[in-house]
Amino acid sequence: MNNNNAPIGVIDSGLGGLSVLQHLISDIPNESYIYFSDNAYCPYGKKSFAEIQSRVFDIVRFLIDKYNVKLVVVACNTATAAAIDELRANFPIPFVGMEPAIKPAALKTKTGVIGVLATEGTFNGRLFKNTYEKYATEATMIVTAGNNLVEYIEAGIVDGTDIENLLKNYIDPMVTNNADLLVLGCTHFPFLSDTIKTLYPKLNLIDPAPAISKQTLNILKINDIESASTSGNRLFFTSGDPILFNQFLKFHLSISEECQRVDI
Ligand code: DGL
Repeated sequence: MNNNNAPIGVIDSGLGGLSVLQHLISDIPNESYIYFSDNAYCPYGKKSFAEIQSRVFDIVRFLIDKYNVKLVVVACNTATAAAIDELRANFPIPFVGMEPAIKPAALKTKTGVIGVLATEGTFNGRLFKNTYEKYATEATMIVTAGNNLVEYIEAGIVDGTDIENLLKNYIDPMVTNNADLLVLGCTHFPFLSDTIKTLYPKLNLIDPAPAISKQTLNILKINDIESASTSGNRLFFTSGDPILFNQFLKFHLSISEECQRVDI
């Protein structure tokens, strides 16, 4: 059956994947998107891979059974680390996962030192370990778990003293050791970009989201499942608090559609 006009699923533990969705919408606007925000189970960062896999499988089943999604973008580095191989092995649709953007950073650094801020789960994944080993000779990497940042962003807080203090704890040692680039290895962190830039005006931030939307377009083409329609629409689901989600969506993405709460 031709499912070219079916929507694309975009999933994350919470609000972070919206930083990827905004690139998808602007780069591939004729596709329809269904965003699933697993706020009730956020953060994923310190959960076991088995627990994350089970959540992500339930969400993907929901998206396929109810909305016939033709592709899923796992807009979460931690969920990608925990489940991307298993998703590809168990579902009949293509998946796009997050790539730790170490390669572009390692090739671009002028000082030879890069910082990587992500979750513990992401650092424990095979993908991160392989990429890290591959580029370890190109650049010195200072790798730090950005603990507690996700919780603030989930509460809609992206600036202020608490966030600044956390960021200073994580990023000061990178900058002191001469890092000129910071890889945002968690999809929540692009929402902190303005705060990071104010604290560290000389630090270049690497957000993998534009590369992910490019890769999504490639996968649509390779599988011959590009939408034939000229405009797309969007649907939003949360397993958590819809009010917080809607506020964030309106404030950070200027999207006024409202999400629906589902119990999965
Ligand atoms: N947005 C996430 C990521 O990219 C997940 C953060 C979390 O839930 O801990 O890793």
